[in-house]
Amino acid sequence: MQKKEKIQKMFAGISPRYDFLNNLLSLGQDRQWRRFAASKLPEGFILDVCSGTGDVAIEVSGKSDVVASDFCARMLELCHSKLSTRGIGNVSCIQNDAENLSFHDGTFDGAVVAFGIRNVADIRKALSEMHRVVKDGGKVVVLEFSKPTNPFFRAGYFFYFKKILPVIGRIFSRDNGAYSYLPSSVMAFPERDEFTKLMEEPGLQDIEYHDLTFGIVTVYVGTKSHG
Ligand SMILES: C[S@@+](CC[C@H](N)C(=O)[O-])C[C@H]1O[C@@H](n2cnc3c(N)ncnc32)[C@H](O)[C@@H]1O
Repeated sequence: MQKKEKIQKMFAGISPRYDFLNNLLSLGQDRQWRRFAASKLPEGFILDVCSGTGDVAIEVSGKSDVVASDFCARMLELCHSKLSTRGIGNVSCIQNDAENLSFHDGTFDGAVVAFGIRNVADIRKALSEMHRVVKDGGKVVVLEFSKPTNPFFRAGYFFYFKKILPVIGRIFSRDNGAYSYLPSSVMAFPERDEFTKLMEEPGLQDIEYHDLTFGIVTVYVGTKSHG
């Protein structure tokens, strides 16, 4: 099975417990991380790529109209019912592959991806697609797990992340692989400077990054150049 199919199947499998586990395993930090990422977007029309159950889209919907897109239908169903329950009417859910977005060039004022870019098979392609669909001067925002830089904090965190988190994840999600995949995919993810270079490749400029919670996660912000 290709990486893409495996990832799609894995997220479909864990989708019913996804929100609960996010909150539990991040000790309630995940909401603040998404809120910070959302604060880096301009107002207007925003694309949430790899939206999952829509938590970033919901965060952004207070000030912008949003398209929540994901390739996993089950995740989008949960997103849709969450939007209905909360009476949020300015978010549309559209099934889409991050590596092959179905939107015209320059459609959005900004695009955001939270905990998704690590999972796509071709990171360069996904970044290039996000760059393509935003307007000149628009923002691309990426929220992703990082490796903390402080050696003492890092040692304790890695113990939790690699040894404890997979066990809790396995028990609650009833999936043997998904929460072991999480730490291994984070370990394989590019370091901050390397990822910044990947964002520059399609033409994003003035890349800044912000470490949150001792560098457990990083928010990257890039601007699409004019012309
Ligand atoms: C860890 S979840 C993140 C969900 C959400 N953004 C959040 O903050 O909780 C990753 C999501 O990326 C989606 N995904 C992975 N690869 C994708 C791709 N190539 N195209 C679209 N969605 C993808 C998965 O289906 C999953 O819903």
